[in-house]
Amino acid sequence: MPLDYRFTPAFENPTGSAIRELFKYLAQPGMISFAGGYPAAAFFDQQGLQQAAAEAIGQTPLDCLQYGATEGLPALREQLAALMARRGAAVHVDDLIVTTGSQQGFDLLLKVLLAPGAQVLVERPTYPAALQALRLAGAQVLSAATDAEGLDTQALAEQLAGRPSGSIALLYCVPTFANPTGACLPLDRRLALLRLAVQHDFLIIEDDPYGALRFAGQDVPSLLALSEQVDGAQGRVIHLSSLSKVLAPGLRVGWMVAPAAIRQRCLVAKQTVDLCTSPWTQRIAANYLANGALERALPSLAAGYKEKCERMLAGLRPMAEYLEVSAPAGGMFIWGRCRNGLDAKALLPKAIAQNVLFVPGAAFYGEHPDPSSIRLSFAAPGLAEIDEGLTRLQRAVAAA
Ligand SMILES: Cc1ncc(COP(=O)(O)O)c(C=O)c1O
Repeated sequence: MPLDYRFTPAFENPTGSAIRELFKYLAQPGMISFAGGYPAAAFFDQQGLQQAAAEAIGQTPLDCLQYGATEGLPALREQLAALMARRGAAVHVDDLIVTTGSQQGFDLLLKVLLAPGAQVLVERPTYPAALQALRLAGAQVLSAATDAEGLDTQALAEQLAGRPSGSIALLYCVPTFANPTGACLPLDRRLALLRLAVQHDFLIIEDDPYGALRFAGQDVPSLLALSEQVDGAQGRVIHLSSLSKVLAPGLRVGWMVAPAAIRQRCLVAKQTVDLCTSPWTQRIAANYLANGALERALPSLAAGYKEKCERMLAGLRPMAEYLEVSAPAGGMFIWGRCRNGLDAKALLPKAIAQNVLFVPGAAFYGEHPDPSSIRLSFAAPGLAEIDEGLTRLQRAVAAA
């Protein structure tokens, strides 16, 4: 007789990630995947990381093999503060803690800031692991409309009008090259969003793993940087970022910039989760950054993703009658909408039969999914794979 285990309410019937469910098809021989938000393995800076790792293991004392401070290795925090300054946000070393990927930063914030039933706004559509974390935390997830430029702040102002101030606890967003839409929020909307946060008394979690991967257009300051310019907005933006997309997700190095009261509580929460982020990978990351390797690598990384993105957009053009797509200025994703009778859900099995994978858009919605949407990532496959994958997708479209 199986034991009758007693689970917490959140884990009685938890739903796993819809995207991870798709990963079983990756084992299908010859599968070409446009599904994951995985960086290109060919772009990993093996030499730079090899040097940083060799330096790490040669360092005395060998602190990187010992437990480390929960807030992170001082040398890495210094490098990350300098990185934030280069990105236009004046951040002191003490304002920043290292997290085990930015995903952990988000989870810690929910532990610290969110009472069960609290209302949280997310973009519609948004990053599914954030939705999953919010659901497990017992949040009441509300979605805010977006268009091709990201959050529609005018619509948000209307949505918030009449609500008591303080009724929304948090707003989570990926303003720069969003996952899944690739959209980049323009400056005027960023300022409008900050003013709304002040007016309606909510905190903003700005998730920025993709911002450094710009390959077209002009940089736009982060919400964190802009919060200094908007009366009352200081201390309202918590910024999460990561080395996953620009260096290697296997390092599991992310960071959080947050006001002291929030940061200190996140550290207490982190103590019970993992004591500290791996000091070994932190030291490698610190050495890599101190060697100037990231700054050297970024231009060719962005150029590489630009080439892949353009290749994918070109390959999608013959399907334009059935698939309307976005043209991002950075990041890793193209967002598409099926039209003229093409059904994204019906398309998926046809695509799998043709050995090509994408993510149906429904996974990215907190409520009222748009069944016509799909997400394609151009990041991981090589150029020839992009060509071949799109030929297969075209066959799948014809068969759907
Ligand atoms: C929007 C967004 N936030 C966070 C993450 C997680 O990043 P990390 O590897 O730093 O945990 C991802 C990864 O796909 C992402 O797309």
